[in-house]
Amino acid sequence: MSMENYSPGLEGVVAGTTAISTVGKKGRGLTYRGIAIEDLAGHASFEEVAHLLIHGTLPQDEAELDSYRKRLTALRALPDALQRVLEQLPPTAHPMDVLRTGCSALGTMEPEVGAGNEEQVADRLVALFPSMLLHWYQFHRSGARLSGASDEPGIAAHFLRLLHGSQPDELRQRAVDVSLILYAEHEFNASTFSARVTASTLSDFYSAITSAIGTLRGPLHGGANEEAIKLIERFTSPDDAQQGLMQMLAAKEKVMGFGHRIYKYADPRSAIARDWALRLCGGVGDARLCEIAERIEEVMYKEKNLFPNLDFYTAIVYRLCGIPTEMFTPLFVFARVAGWSAHIIEQRSANRIFRPIAEYVGPERQEYVPIGKRR
Ligand code: ACO
Repeated sequence: MSMENYSPGLEGVVAGTTAISTVGKKGRGLTYRGIAIEDLAGHASFEEVAHLLIHGTLPQDEAELDSYRKRLTALRALPDALQRVLEQLPPTAHPMDVLRTGCSALGTMEPEVGAGNEEQVADRLVALFPSMLLHWYQFHRSGARLSGASDEPGIAAHFLRLLHGSQPDELRQRAVDVSLILYAEHEFNASTFSARVTASTLSDFYSAITSAIGTLRGPLHGGANEEAIKLIERFTSPDDAQQGLMQMLAAKEKVMGFGHRIYKYADPRSAIARDWALRLCGGVGDARLCEIAERIEEVMYKEKNLFPNLDFYTAIVYRLCGIPTEMFTPLFVFARVAGWSAHIIEQRSANRIFRPIAEYVGPERQEYVPIGKRR
């Protein structure tokens, strides 16, 4: 083995092939199964995108989309046993830990039966994650046992309704719907890779998704959207933000919501998220958050040549939709489960176990000294 092949963080390493998405490919940009993210975010719903990723094609017509939505709606109810598990989890738990545990528990209640029902398991998880989170949340707030029911046809509206207990307005509903489209898939990112590694051992679907949730949770990945809003809300004005940012950069602190391993000039999802954040800032009359965010963006570009990634402006969208900060990364899960599922199915279709190698940097070979003779 030679260190020539060593790439920290696997940067630039081709670790597999995929037909699911392109990320930062010259002349292609970000596409899901060949369709540009700008078109999907501009015209599709999250359910269409979930169908595209999990089942391989867009629904062919309104009737097929309607029937897929009805199928997902029917899959939203939580099993009784899962409700009880969720109720046992402490109210102080992080919602990502609730989803990770809920997913794992569901795997014991509705295990995969034989081969070939992956798409059904994937649909079940897409339908169930919002119900899981809101059942736990509302149970601890008010004792309500939601069991996941709502007849809202879209997942964004379903989530907002269970959260706020009322019909969401069109603007916020669509803003969250678009965010789910943007979060749904992104090639071999850390959480997807983790799902594929687990799937490559021929482990079960739930184990692969549970691995992915644990990987997404960290602030260098999905957890960045929670850190981004904490940063933005720390400042009282654009000038205050500029001063605070300069201090952070002088202290060599990382600014969450900026930078990307693959994108070097811009994250194509960020412009779409920014547009929605500005619409909401205008629409609900809170311009301050956007003004602060834009100043942070300017400073980061000027000082570090860094640009916002998807998490930065999505954090403002979620805040202006009245979503608690700890639910920001779970929303990423609601969406990315579609991408993870597509990757697990793809990995299984042409599997080889992932087993890279390490360069040894430990002590020289040494004799084993029996205990009692070590000093
Ligand atoms: N703030 C300040 N400096 C940064 C940032 C940032 N957000 N991102 C990168 N840099 C700097 C690094 O300090 C480093 O500088 P140096 O060479 O002087 O040490 C250089 O840019 C390269 O950064 P790395 O961390 O080595 O880049 P890498 O490709 O390993 O990491 C990552 C990419 C994790 C996204 C990084 O940019 C980062 O930590 N960003 C903040 C976390 C974040 O927003 N994550 C969300 C990712 S996108 C998503 O999950 C939807």
